[in-house]
Amino acid sequence: LTAQAATALRESEPMFRYEEYADIDWNNLGFGLTRTDYMYTAKCKENESFQQGQLRDYGNVELSPAAGVLNYGQGLFEGTKAYRGENGRVFLFRPDQNAIRMQMGAERMCMRSPSVQQFVDAVKQTAFANKRWIPPPGKGSLYIRPLLIGTGPILGLSPSPEYTFLVYASPVGNYFKEGTAPLNLYVNDEFHRATRGGAGGVKSITNYAPVLQAISKAKAQGFSDVIYLDSVHKKYVEEASSCNMFLVKGNVISTPATVGTILEGITRKSIIDIARDSGYKVEERLVTVDELMEADEVFTTGTAVSIAAVGSITYNGQRKEYKTGDGLVSKDLYKTLVGIQLGKIEDKHNWVVQL
Ligand code: COI
Repeated sequence: LTAQAATALRESEPMFRYEEYADIDWNNLGFGLTRTDYMYTAKCKENESFQQGQLRDYGNVELSPAAGVLNYGQGLFEGTKAYRGENGRVFLFRPDQNAIRMQMGAERMCMRSPSVQQFVDAVKQTAFANKRWIPPPGKGSLYIRPLLIGTGPILGLSPSPEYTFLVYASPVGNYFKEGTAPLNLYVNDEFHRATRGGAGGVKSITNYAPVLQAISKAKAQGFSDVIYLDSVHKKYVEEASSCNMFLVKGNVISTPATVGTILEGITRKSIIDIARDSGYKVEERLVTVDELMEADEVFTTGTAVSIAAVGSITYNGQRKEYKTGDGLVSKDLYKTLVGIQLGKIEDKHNWVVQL
């Protein structure tokens, strides 16, 4: 927000709470939901553009029982974060990329979508209005969750007559309960996250409930998350339930190419650029599960996850342990990513938006 827009917003919303920090325990944030103060909503009728949205108190939404999202899963979500840097400055990271990804997903799911400007503005307003929930530097971030859902009633299978764009937020720490310790992952070749021609490449809400069973089984055995393979050959690595996969072998970093079944992660593509800028060779290509098992180092990327080192992968009854500790490529990349996100390292790609 420009200073002028921020002042206008403050004057139009005198109920904003302006203490610097909400009164919660900032030292123990996991990835649980904390109720914040405000959320943003905007609506759009079929064949029209989204109307100007507004902030309202955080709370439940009322839906028709026949809403498209409830009956036919017409919904998309996004995830982006606001970070508090030194001197109280607040930064967003590439929110325009979330907007573009939502537009691509909306096209796939036959939904109307907000413009990039409206999306980014809504994210800024939500972060600004909930500023007291942005954790102190080093304690976490404000996870911002934009949703696009078919809210109009529809009985037959067709696009919803109305859409709602909603943005809420919650302070978060580490995504995995392991904190920053290396993850233990499990390759499940029985369940698949996506199929060719499906919607695995977009952030449809329908990609997430079907993996819960695989995650629950893996968690019951002590694993942090599940890695999925392609559904045709059952040998190419796709992604984990919540993040993209990378491997390091020698001095080359490889990641599965996004071929329609893999989510085009914003952290994924930022890490590819950061790694290339730092002199690493990066390949986006088909990666087999055997290569993953033979790698020197494996790590995952995502907005919620950031970059997480992998300590072991179990596949077909075999457990492979990877290098951990100092000197990891993922640590080097993590430092640069976080440095850019917190405004400490030169942002030569113009990724960071200061609130
Ligand atoms: C994110 O990283 O923002 C995601 O959307 C993953 C989700 C499973 C938390």
